[in-house]
Amino acid sequence: MLSVEDNNLLTRIEAGTPMGNLFRRYWIPALLSEEISEPDCAPVRVRLLGEELVAFRATDGTIGLLNEHCAHRGTSLFFGRNEECGLRCIYHGWKYGVDGKVLDTPAEPAGSQLKNKVRHNAYPCVEAGGIVFTYMGPKEKLPVFPSYPWLGVPQEQIYIAKSFLECNYLQGLEGDCDSAHLNYLHRMFKPDARREFLNLVDQSPDFEFDDLDCGVRAAAIRNMTGGATYARISHFVMPFIGAVPVGSMVDGKLDGFKAVYQVPADNHNTWRYDFFFKWSRPFGKEDSSKRDFVDAGYKKLRNKRNNYLQDRERQKTVNFTGITEFLNQDACATESMGPVVNRMVEHLGASDAFIIQVRRFLLRAVKDFQAGKEPPGLIFDAAQNNFAHLRCEAAHLPAKVSWRSLYENGE
Ligand code: FES
Ligand SMILES: [Fe+2]
Repeated sequence: MLSVEDNNLLTRIEAGTPMGNLFRRYWIPALLSEEISEPDCAPVRVRLLGEELVAFRATDGTIGLLNEHCAHRGTSLFFGRNEECGLRCIYHGWKYGVDGKVLDTPAEPAGSQLKNKVRHNAYPCVEAGGIVFTYMGPKEKLPVFPSYPWLGVPQEQIYIAKSFLECNYLQGLEGDCDSAHLNYLHRMFKPDARREFLNLVDQSPDFEFDDLDCGVRAAAIRNMTGGATYARISHFVMPFIGAVPVGSMVDGKLDGFKAVYQVPADNHNTWRYDFFFKWSRPFGKEDSSKRDFVDAGYKKLRNKRNNYLQDRERQKTVNFTGITEFLNQDACATESMGPVVNRMVEHLGASDAFIIQVRRFLLRAVKDFQAGKEPPGLIFDAAQNNFAHLRCEAAHLPAKVSWRSLYENGE
């Protein structure tokens, strides 16, 4: 249960809110690189933290992320001309560089200084792993771009599924920090070899947590025979990343995992990026089915307006929900709570332990931030840019061996 005040504090992210200001201090995904795949291609609208923005890739390949509305009189730059290293408004031809500098005001008289007096709002961008990341905070607080393990593998070993979630980011994030739902929401009646652990005897794991600088590490520990355990280790990473162990085992080790970014579009909508990667090999065709569930704008074909095309017959015979594809199942569970769930009326149980930890971490971060402290997990010194310890694992451990041994030596 959360008070109305704490729920508001956690869920409101538009400019000027405490959480909105906190989130703006991190590098966050703005869009996929493929959405602006070539220099001078069509600009793309980007709704992010309640702001209306437009992204474009300039002639030299650099990326601009600008306020969508022209500084002159507000026409949308989405319709603009992306040409000769700048984005030109179609109304009176004002042209902007990727940094928001006004390069040209052709309707003004020769010698006009207007263009030197106006600066359009622009956010810096960095591309990594197929995602364009941006930083929307104060310029003097720009942190080092973090070297998370999932961003450090070759592009062909990465697979990203982007989708639009029609609810507040926290509902999405809480789904990523909730391994208990796997046994129900995602249950297939035919055993699924890829998710073998769902068929284990111990269906009620014990949880243990460690606070990290940048988030929370969570171990779900299932008892096996003879005192042995099976541990699955997930992470919550500021500001809204849930990293969970998925994928196959290679030589007894988990071959990659996935990091899910639940990026707030606004208070009531979220861009979800499921960032899968493998340590050992490229993704093949057989891995790439996850895109078929959204349209060209990453909106789900099965959505709340068509009840996710739930099939009651399949619910009896095929899977627990009668809904196809785990991302649709997640969306149904979280969107059907409403745009922002009222956490005053929930009843949390032992299986919600990770969610409680994540809320606690986020609440402490935002309250400390309001009191003037720096946000957790940011780095400003490139020499400290080491996040190798943010590794998810799934491991069988002999009796008396702790899952913490997987992270010895600070790893
Ligand atoms: S509104 Fe954009 S140039 Fe006038
Ligand atoms: Fe799920």
